[in-house]
Amino acid sequence: MRLLAYSGYEPRERERSNAGDTTSDRSACADLVTFPVTPRRDNPSWRSRRMTQPVSTPLFELSNQDAVAWLHALPAASVDLLITDPAYESLEKHRAVGTTTRLKHSKASSNDWFTVFPNARFDELFEQVYRVLRDDTHFYLFCDAETMFEAKPKAERAGFKFWKPLVWDKQTIGMGYHYRARYEFILFFEKGKRRLNDLGIADIINVPRVHRGYPAEKPVGVSDVLVKQSSSPGDVIADPFMGSGSVGEAALMNGRRFLGTDLNAAAVRVTGERLQKFGEGRQPDLGDITTTDLLSLMGTEP
Ligand SMILES: C[S@@+](CC[C@H](N)C(=O)[O-])C[C@H]1O[C@@H](n2cnc3c(N)ncnc32)[C@H](O)[C@@H]1O
Repeated sequence: MRLLAYSGYEPRERERSNAGDTTSDRSACADLVTFPVTPRRDNPSWRSRRMTQPVSTPLFELSNQDAVAWLHALPAASVDLLITDPAYESLEKHRAVGTTTRLKHSKASSNDWFTVFPNARFDELFEQVYRVLRDDTHFYLFCDAETMFEAKPKAERAGFKFWKPLVWDKQTIGMGYHYRARYEFILFFEKGKRRLNDLGIADIINVPRVHRGYPAEKPVGVSDVLVKQSSSPGDVIADPFMGSGSVGEAALMNGRRFLGTDLNAAAVRVTGERLQKFGEGRQPDLGDITTTDLLSLMGTEP
C-alpha cells in the first residue's frame, strides 16, 4: 500500500498517477490513503512552521488564572484527562461552623484559606471542561455529598455521561459531629466512550489523608489510581483548581504531561517547586509572592 501521509502539499498529477490514481476522483483509488492536504506549500503559515526548529514540549505548564478563563483559552479537544478538586461552596458552610478541618484559620477572615468557587458557576465550568477534553476521555471531580447533587446534573447537561461516584476512604475519621467524615466522593464522568485500563480496580480508594499539607490537599495516591486508569504515557492531564499540585505529581510520575491553574499565586509557587523535580516546566511570573503566608496555613493537622 502506498501511504501519502500528511505532507503539507497537494500531490502533483504525476505523483497521483504513479500511485495508480489515473482518474480525477481520488477516492476511486482504493490503495491510496491521503490525509488532509491543507495548508498548501504556498501558504505562508505552512512555510513558517517548516522553518521553525522543533521545540521541546515542557512537562508541565502552570498558570495563575481563574479556572474557567484558563480553560477558555485552551484549544478544544486538547486534553486527554481532567481531574479536579474545586474549592466548592459547601466547604464555606462547614468552615462557618468550624467543623471541616482544623487548618489554622484567622478569626478575621475565612478567605485566608482560599477563594470558594460558587455552585452557580458549575455550568460554565463543565461546558469548558467538556470542550477541552478530547472525545473518548474521562473526567473526575472531587466533591462532598452536598456538592454531588449540584454538580452531577450540571455536568450531564454539558454532555458528560455520569458513571458513578468513587469513594476516597481516608481511613481515619475527621472532625465534626453526627457521623464523622471519613470519605469523599470522586464523580466519574465520561465524554464519548473510553475503557478503563484495569477493570479489576474497586470503586473505593483507600489512601490516608495528607497531614500538614496545603488546605484540602489530596494524596497523590488517589490521583495515581485515576491517572493509571484513564490515561496513557505521554497524555496531557489538566487540573483547573490544582492547589498544591497533587494531580500534577501523579501525572508526571506516570510519564504524562500536566497543565494546571490556581487563583492563589502561592499555590502556583508550591506546585512549581513540587513538579520541578520531574523536569522542565513553564511557570508564570509570580512577582514577589512567597509561600510564607500559605505555609503558615499549612502544618496543622487536618
Ligand atoms: C481544594 S483546593 C485543591 C487542592 C488540590 N487538589 C491539592 O491536592 O492540593 C481548591 C483550590 O481551588 C483554588 N480556586 C478557588 N477558586 C478558583 C478559581 N475560580 N479558579 C482557579 N482556582 C480556584 C483555590 O485557590 C484552591 O487552591
